[in-house]
Amino acid sequence: MNDATDSASLSPEHMLGHGFYNKHAQAQAAANRFGLNLIEQAIRRVDLARVGDVFRIADYGAAQGRNSLLPIKTALSVLRAQGATLPVVVAHTDLPTNDWTTLFQTVLSSPESYVVGQPDLFVSASGTSIYQQMFPPEQIAFGYSAITTHWLSRKPADIPGQIWSVRATGAVHERWAHRAREDWYTFLRHRCAELAPSGQLVMVNSGADANGQSGAEPLIDSVNGVLQDMVSEGALGEDEYARMAIPTYYRVAREWREPFDDPEFVRVHPLQLLHYEESALGDVFVDRYDQTGDARAFAQSDAGFFRAAFEPSLFVALRADRSDADRARLIDAFAQRLEGALARDPTSHGTRWVLQLMWIAKGGTRGV
Ligand SMILES: C[S@@+](CC[C@H](N)C(=O)[O-])C[C@H]1O[C@@H](n2cnc3c(N)ncnc32)[C@H](O)[C@@H]1O
Repeated sequence: MNDATDSASLSPEHMLGHGFYNKHAQAQAAANRFGLNLIEQAIRRVDLARVGDVFRIADYGAAQGRNSLLPIKTALSVLRAQGATLPVVVAHTDLPTNDWTTLFQTVLSSPESYVVGQPDLFVSASGTSIYQQMFPPEQIAFGYSAITTHWLSRKPADIPGQIWSVRATGAVHERWAHRAREDWYTFLRHRCAELAPSGQLVMVNSGADANGQSGAEPLIDSVNGVLQDMVSEGALGEDEYARMAIPTYYRVAREWREPFDDPEFVRVHPLQLLHYEESALGDVFVDRYDQTGDARAFAQSDAGFFRAAFEPSLFVALRADRSDADRARLIDAFAQRLEGALARDPTSHGTRWVLQLMWIAKGGTRGV
């Protein structure tokens, strides 16, 4: 085990369980498709003579596995197309509290899984936080991470009147930015240790545009409004609401790039940023609404998306003395109200997540 510990391994930043995330993560699925081209290029760049007898792939932040199937299948097909016959181990990683049952059922039993028709392929998992080292040194030939590193190792501060780090200001925002900076450096340090010589890392990150916006502010502001209404009516305690900041942070370009422009960091951790690109994700639910005009279906999908990604980390703030039935009733009431707010005005709730695509190489590979 690595000596570093962090509170993330004990905290609720996981996705909503029992397969709920897999069913409601179409936006994240679309984001993963942005990384396929970089995956192909990165796999071709691994020097097979330097990775050892086994080609090890790590999928950092896999959740329930569905959205990892195509990226890993893409990596494998490029690898095998090069004539590489060595055994492959794919390690999916996430928090200990992840829904691992659904992950293994998805990866091992889905007809569209990358395991189908692949000899010499071994699937494994690690329930270790990305903010720790989770593999022995120089093992990983190819790392992949999608929509994960905006989750911080811990919530750095409450945000008065808000639940979203983008809405923090002044000294509170500084505390969030500081935590995000530390976490990004920590993530890269550990990945650098784990990557084999010539190992490659492709990331599809959720971040912010030049104005610091993540693209989800219309949705999140409505969520915040619903929660504040519930406080006014006494359904939610002021103390509970005050603790409700979601522990994600949306880095701007300068923040993503900083470690690679830091000579001291790259001298000790020889990582090179080969490719950096920003994109905005279209809103699949608004597109469907434009075609069907079905506001109720839009609201159910959008609320489902929000709940899948954020419900566990938001409602951990509820008082510990609430019964399970009481918690379930409150969360259900929240979901109904959110659906109502979204159904009243689908088009102004469009979410255009900002994505940062990154291709990182270990060693002295020249930039492309
Ligand atoms: C939005 S999901 C992305 C899942 C998948 N890669 C996808 O693209 O759909 C983010 C994942 O990051 C995981 N996560 C959050 N903090 C983490 C940490 N400190 N260590 C490992 N995984 C973490 C969550 O549990 C969740 O499964």
